[in-house]
Amino acid sequence: MDREVSGVRRVEGEIRVGGDKSISHRALVLSSMADGQSVVRGLSAARDVASTLQSLGRLGVELECGGTTVRVLGKGIAGLKLPDTGEPVVLDCGNSGTTARLMTGLLAGAGVRARLVGDRSLLSRPMKRVIDPLCRFGARIEHREGRLPLVIQKGSLQAIRYTVPVPSAQVKTALILASMFVGGKSEIEETIITRDHTERLLAAMHAAFRSEPHENGARITVWGRKDPHPLDMEVPGDISSAVFFIALALIVPGSRLVVRNVGLNPTRARILSVFKRMGGEVDTNVEAGGPEPYGTVRVRGSSLVGTEVSGREIPLVIDEIPALACAALFASGETVIRDARELRVKESDRIEAVCDMVRRFGGEVEEREDGFTVRGGAPINNALIESGGDHRIAMAASVLACAAPGTSTIRGAECVSVSCPEFFDLLEHVVQ
Ligand code: S3P
Repeated sequence: MDREVSGVRRVEGEIRVGGDKSISHRALVLSSMADGQSVVRGLSAARDVASTLQSLGRLGVELECGGTTVRVLGKGIAGLKLPDTGEPVVLDCGNSGTTARLMTGLLAGAGVRARLVGDRSLLSRPMKRVIDPLCRFGARIEHREGRLPLVIQKGSLQAIRYTVPVPSAQVKTALILASMFVGGKSEIEETIITRDHTERLLAAMHAAFRSEPHENGARITVWGRKDPHPLDMEVPGDISSAVFFIALALIVPGSRLVVRNVGLNPTRARILSVFKRMGGEVDTNVEAGGPEPYGTVRVRGSSLVGTEVSGREIPLVIDEIPALACAALFASGETVIRDARELRVKESDRIEAVCDMVRRFGGEVEEREDGFTVRGGAPINNALIESGGDHRIAMAASVLACAAPGTSTIRGAECVSVSCPEFFDLLEHVVQ
């Protein structure tokens, strides 16, 4: 679907974005392992989360959905087995890397024979980062040169002791899930902090686990074969969707935007600090804890200056970098992104896709292997952008289209539904 997006005069109003995708996946998966019925409210309507819902359904988990509320009848750790019918159960993970990696950990731990498939983008994404550690501890996984389709064979895992070599919350979570099925004590370490939703939900479910700071990262200890208690929670709004509206409000002069009920977990909301140090007028008010802190963000159109984002800050803003590139184009001076090689293996090669998008809008950008430098502050033009099926590129391009003169066209705009089906409705609601 092509979407025409025209330049706007101002951004004004109040929005709520849909439930956080990362938290939604985890709430569903962990609830299916609990010993009773969980209730998750405010679940994301994203297509990626539907992939997780369907996959759990195929594993025999009973899920009752009514709007954005879902009741999950947990089967307990020992209950997540399937009768062996000879054929592996097929789980379609669609476009969702999180579904594929989390399910690989869960299935390897549960010892369920399954075949994981996905769309063209997912078939190209690296899976060895989960396959290697799982196989080292006893899993049997067939793969196509480290990529999907995967076939997980029945195997029996031993306790895991592993330091995750890439900063990846998906890998960390896959190993935590697998270790929940294994007797004894497993230890998973990360040397660079990544999003900690799994740990927060496990704590809320009184799971047999501990997370503690270790060197510069964290050590997670899991005592396996103990069912977590059911979960009862409200998923806050997704900061990685809200960020596109926040970036737009920052770069369009005279704008005022309020984002309510958005997740403000410190391992996710770092982009707001980055915007603040660029001179962005961003006020954050944390209103409640629960397993996941959330609150209100108020933004005004601002004069921005470039910044550098690198090292340990990268995993904390990894999904927000396309939106950051939009703000960078309107900031004076250079914005430098380094140490972000991971972006090359997201739903698209996001370094290449962001640089291409910036150039098409008339901006100046230098691409490097591990990032890029945007030279901002010059006027931009309207553009024709191919999303390449990457939801975050489609949303970033829409932000720039709103800030550009004339009308731009976003090709393949329907992919926003992968993370934010409500994106264009919200955009229409706040632009003038
Ligand atoms: C996610 C972790 C990140 C992120 C992805 C969602 C998660 O990926 O980019 O959109 O829910 O754990 P990695 O863990 O591979 O860095």
